[in-house]
Amino acid sequence: MTDVGAEHLSAASEQPRLFHVIDPRVFDRRLLDDLCELATRVRRIAKSREGALYLQNLLPTRRAMLYFTQPSTRTFLSFNNACHILGIRTSEIRDPSTSSEVKGESFEDSIRTFSSYVDVIIMRTREPGRAAVAARLMDSIPRPVPVINAGSGSDQHPTQALLDIYTLDRSFAERGGIDGKVIGMMGDLKRGRTVRSLSYLMKCYRDVRLVFIAPAPFAMQPDVKAHLAEHGIEFIETERLDDVLPELDALYVTRMQSEWDIAGESRSVDIRRFSVGPAQLARLKPDAIIMHPLPRGPEIDPAVDADHRAMYWRQERNGMWMRVAVLLTIFGLDQEVRAADFPADG
Ligand code: NCD
Repeated sequence: MTDVGAEHLSAASEQPRLFHVIDPRVFDRRLLDDLCELATRVRRIAKSREGALYLQNLLPTRRAMLYFTQPSTRTFLSFNNACHILGIRTSEIRDPSTSSEVKGESFEDSIRTFSSYVDVIIMRTREPGRAAVAARLMDSIPRPVPVINAGSGSDQHPTQALLDIYTLDRSFAERGGIDGKVIGMMGDLKRGRTVRSLSYLMKCYRDVRLVFIAPAPFAMQPDVKAHLAEHGIEFIETERLDDVLPELDALYVTRMQSEWDIAGESRSVDIRRFSVGPAQLARLKPDAIIMHPLPRGPEIDPAVDADHRAMYWRQERNGMWMRVAVLLTIFGLDQEVRAADFPADG
């Protein structure tokens, strides 16, 4: 695992506080709180036409490359639209067969080429660690541009973790925030990069307890558990949702990541035991929330969508605002937007 990007975090307000976004472990509580606050600020500013035009004029000379060679709907669209909200123009490669990689160009040369034309590279790959390689390459060339990891194999998905934190933070705003909450993560915890990245951010909150609910072969990996132990974050593991359901303040559901199967091992799982439907809703606290990074499979019954505790559609939209906040912070405009003269509520 790399700590690339950490050296770019700086307390000095004139220096951008973020450069590359590769590994969620570089975030601290202050930066998370600031990003959440900024996301809310932007969301409110964007409500008026005047505010939306103000945002669109913040970065009209900047260009972004969306290099997504692994399937994506939400992450691609939310980054694309986050760029457009700020006036950033976008180019994209989504199909590697249309890039010069088919002519044998190396990954490194392709990334360096993107950096010749744009001001930020946002990338998703099937292989783990690629965004970190791209960031290290950028740090070695004369005109580096920031690299944002939009999902690297089954390894990390830092901006999803940020939008998940934003969703938890908003949901618990009237109840003391994320501190002290019991957060369940359920499903394919072994190969799900979202729950891996989110677990890492839990070290920024006090007295959080994690409950990992997974079929034994798909339990949370030892590297994440070691990180939690090192930071004194309490967690338990179980295969029985029923035993823990009434204790949870949040239940983060994930799908089986069957695209990583070698011999159809996902099919051996009885997904009904790791699913939420009306029976589970009846036992969940009235003020608990249900999250899911989407896309969903059968693990959340569509009947749950109408329940006030279903947070995943709001979570999806929160992703766009959080990505606007990330881009503003990378380009050093976070303080300006914070100070902008717009009504606090719109
Ligand atoms: C997730 C991903 O791609 O890791 N989706 C997303 O980015 N919202 C989760 C998943 O695919 O299960």
